[in-house]
Amino acid sequence: MDRLNHDYENIIKCRDDFPSLKRSLRDLPLAYFDGPAGTQVPQQVIDTISSYYKTCNANAHAHFITSIETDRMIDEARVNMSHFLGAECGETISFGANMTTLNFSLSKAIGRYLQPGDEILITQLDHEANRGPWLALRSRGLVVREVAVTPDGALDYRDFENKINDNTRLVAMGYASNAFGTVNDVALARKLSYQVGAWLLLDAVHYAPHFPTDLRQLGADFFLCSAYKFYGPHVGILYCKAGLLDRIYPDRLRTQIQQAPFCIETGTPNFASIAGTRAAVDYIASFGTGRDTRSRILNSMEVIAAYEHELAQYLYQNILLLVSNVECASDKLLDLLKVGTIVFLYG
Ligand SMILES: Cc1ncc(COP(=O)(O)O)c(C=O)c1O
Repeated sequence: MDRLNHDYENIIKCRDDFPSLKRSLRDLPLAYFDGPAGTQVPQQVIDTISSYYKTCNANAHAHFITSIETDRMIDEARVNMSHFLGAECGETISFGANMTTLNFSLSKAIGRYLQPGDEILITQLDHEANRGPWLALRSRGLVVREVAVTPDGALDYRDFENKINDNTRLVAMGYASNAFGTVNDVALARKLSYQVGAWLLLDAVHYAPHFPTDLRQLGADFFLCSAYKFYGPHVGILYCKAGLLDRIYPDRLRTQIQQAPFCIETGTPNFASIAGTRAAVDYIASFGTGRDTRSRILNSMEVIAAYEHELAQYLYQNILLLVSNVECASDKLLDLLKVGTIVFLYG
């Protein structure tokens, strides 16, 4: 087998950061193939979570020192996430239990905002977390249309163009498929949704860990991802374009802060995990070069994307040599832009 071209010293150094990679099974080191189930977590993130509990475990918005430090930490986590996503500012970032819970909350609010007969366009390539919440709105009289998938695991853009129309108020689609790794043409989706005046929501849970994200360039109205896919804990992240979350009305208590980004964060957030999310972004930035956090994140994500591409090609080429009766569903997609996800069909 050919060797990978990458800088082994750095990779080995980086492997040392992950305690879970030191696990073995029957005296063999464990390898984790299930990327879509989440990344492993580096010691730096584990330490930050642990340190939160040791030093400033408290509820937010009170006047004692641990509470003030918690507020500061959450503000910093929002700013860090805005650097990671290329968003305007930290106030556009909300945290929640996970992507699915945030998306349900958002869909209920958008469902109340729209009128019966208004249309939502979703896709058959999407994870159920970005289908179920929108399909449920059919019971409120909203029309939900679905873009078809081509046999080789990409979106059918002709079908997309046929189904989007002047009644479409929202296009809710994935940025990358967790099943095939296909990266969708979100620039086209933005263009078509602008033409009919529809909002664009992107589920980037499977995209954000693999490529740099530039929300200012994308122009998405809503954008969701999950920190456990990029070396963090189980926390969902929602970006809403400035001013948008205040126009719709997410379920919330009368007693909580009524404005964005707080109004969709019901109950007591998982502060320790939010601290861990901030640390995960710092961890990614620590591998990049550049003058500021955003440049370091961009640089680091470019390196990660290039390395993953090389690794996926290596895996793809060699798995076929090693295992018989395996069909690799990604072969037809290798010339498309993909995240390094490979689908095995066996049996
Ligand atoms: C593409 C995609 N969207 C959404 C989700 C759901 O994310 P969460 O587990 O944060 O609810 C997943 C989870 O695997 C996913 O892969």
